[in-house]
Amino acid sequence: MQTTIDVETLQEMLDRGQPVTVLDIRPPDERAEWAIPGSIYVNAYDALKANDPQALAGIDLPTDRPVVTVCGAGATSLIAADHLHRQGFQALSLEGGMRAWSLAWNRAEIPLPDSQATVIQVRRTGKGCLSYLIGAEGVAAVVDPALEPEVYLALARDYGWTISRVLETHIHADHLSRGRALAERCGATLYLPAQNRASFPFTPLQDGDKVEIGTARLQALHTPGHTGESTCYLLDGQALFTGDTLFLSGVGRPDLEAGPEEARNRAGDLYRALQRLLTLPPEVLILPGHTSEPIAFDGQAITAPLDEVRERAELLQLPEKTFVELLMARIPPTPPNHHRIVELNEAGLLPESDPTELEAGANRCAVG
Ligand SMILES: [Fe+2]
Repeated sequence: MQTTIDVETLQEMLDRGQPVTVLDIRPPDERAEWAIPGSIYVNAYDALKANDPQALAGIDLPTDRPVVTVCGAGATSLIAADHLHRQGFQALSLEGGMRAWSLAWNRAEIPLPDSQATVIQVRRTGKGCLSYLIGAEGVAAVVDPALEPEVYLALARDYGWTISRVLETHIHADHLSRGRALAERCGATLYLPAQNRASFPFTPLQDGDKVEIGTARLQALHTPGHTGESTCYLLDGQALFTGDTLFLSGVGRPDLEAGPEEARNRAGDLYRALQRLLTLPPEVLILPGHTSEPIAFDGQAITAPLDEVRERAELLQLPEKTFVELLMARIPPTPPNHHRIVELNEAGLLPESDPTELEAGANRCAVG
């Protein structure tokens, strides 16, 4: 009898809209941190661990579909699946739990009426990282790849594109970049904002530099603040890949890998960079590098026009002094393992062990 299900299979079921109940049995603090979109929560972790036979007694779940039980690493969820199985449910435990789910992803297509390019938002739902595949006339670029190279290669193949360019908006602190690995895998040119942090070969981009993708064009806008090198890329004047500089209702944190004084200086830099972005046409679509919520399997792109983002993000409406004060006061806790992640991203390396061990936890790059 099948007792487990792997991440790929569950991802496919959710992607296809197949009926399935996902039952999250983790402790409440873990649930609050991150979850599988649409999952049901029951606070039964301690009871299951204590072998309480009543741990899931009388639970009210649909009986016409499988139930997938989820915990942190896939052990306690096996006990939960066993309880449910004895109650007559078709129950399966998610292999590797939420840690394995960290690599789950889905996609959304973003139509750009006045560009030859098609943009696919590739969303790492298990972690909140947003990357982008931009294709035009048989070739494609990837911005901020956060998933295994195979994911982008398979997607590009579906659209009949060859990946010839890989770009990073900055050196990331919350996830391991797959940029170098992807560029090497497909023989693509790897572009990074000009800086002296990365110790591997890359093509540097300065403010104003352009990168062509078929007839489409990306223009680099140096927007320091979140990090010194942070750069946004404007696609055909219509869509802006903002990395961690600007989110849909917040802005990037200025403090990672910086002392208090440098963080304050960076907050000022960020203010000026954002003011520059606000001079772009109001209809430019903002395409951020992260979201702080698990991403639904709904095909709906996480994007908004610049004028809407200006309305939503209170920080964008403030004068410089207040902006810096509020930004510094609202900085969230640092992401786990960020020093090690930055070290690896500067070296262009992936750990030999499972990368999701280092990447555990929600991303915390935004200040709202
Ligand atoms: Fe970042």
